[in-house]
Amino acid sequence: MNWKQKSIIQNVAARLPRPLGSAVYYQMQRRFGKLGITDPRSRLEAGLQMLRYAEAEGRTVEGSTIVEVGTGHRMNVPIALWLNGAECIHTYDLNPYLKPKLVLEDIAYIRSNEASVFEVFGEVAERPVFQKRWQRLMDMTIDGHNFATAFNVEYHGPGDAAKTGLPRDSVDLHVSFTVLEHIPPIVLTPIMKEGARVLSEDGLFIHHIDFTDHFAHHDGDITYVNFLQFDEPTWMRLGGNRFMYMNRLRVDDITSLVLGAGLEIIKDDRVVDDRSLKALKNGLSVDIEFQDKSDETNATARQWVVARTRR
Ligand SMILES: C[S@@+](CC[C@H](N)C(=O)[O-])C[C@H]1O[C@@H](n2cnc3c(N)ncnc32)[C@H](O)[C@@H]1O
Repeated sequence: MNWKQKSIIQNVAARLPRPLGSAVYYQMQRRFGKLGITDPRSRLEAGLQMLRYAEAEGRTVEGSTIVEVGTGHRMNVPIALWLNGAECIHTYDLNPYLKPKLVLEDIAYIRSNEASVFEVFGEVAERPVFQKRWQRLMDMTIDGHNFATAFNVEYHGPGDAAKTGLPRDSVDLHVSFTVLEHIPPIVLTPIMKEGARVLSEDGLFIHHIDFTDHFAHHDGDITYVNFLQFDEPTWMRLGGNRFMYMNRLRVDDITSLVLGAGLEIIKDDRVVDDRSLKALKNGLSVDIEFQDKSDETNATARQWVVARTRR
């Protein structure tokens, strides 16, 4: 779909009174968008990636207490962590978007696609802890009431990740997947500081950020850096509504925020998008806000950042 048409549709829905606008936009996403597709594998893979980063630093998901920022509509990252033995997963969302119907559809998918789910987890699926949890998943009765507690998930929605209410030093992993790019910079600092407060001495901060212009996910005519052309007021008019909001922070800004929250970065895995880089090198003009940054910084599409509290 042409990105400007999508922007108009989102802006119209965002102007409706809040519950109605959310219901209308949800139905549109269900019929024509990503919520109509049940395939939890990308988020299961994200949970597995979090496990890999934790284990690379000598930590484990088994028995851990985890905070997830920004649940969204589904619960597949927490389910992946639960399958690997997580003891308790607190997941926070400022907006209570979580939909039991979608979670139950995902669980049905997981249960009936054992081979492809096991393929996602690879050798990890052979571990006793995974096998035990898998058996539990196959045996238990899950309905619209227990769908979170069955997976040791405490859903805080509405809940602000900047104010978790959890004790200091009580969390092993602080994680998110494609969330930080949707949160205003002024709110990111308190979220990260809260993460640093609740993380235990050995705790890890493991976050995945998608820096791409999300309109480009459905419009191949534009690149992932298309939105960098606009000044902030223009961009806010086009994509600043509550369904699309993106802060347009670049990878260097995230680094500054993480360090500013008193965390020490131990892993920084970035993917630069070639098509975006080419567009920038060929003279795509970006707003003054982005002109001091290198083309590689502006064209960074994704990042996994792993950090720990500064000792
Ligand atoms: C893109 S969505 C979630 C994506 C989801 N993690 C996934 O993998 O599909 C970002 C979420 O962050 C939530 N959010 C925004 N500010 C927040 C805050 N301060 N605390 C917790 N969640 C927040 C939004 O309500 C939204 O549901």
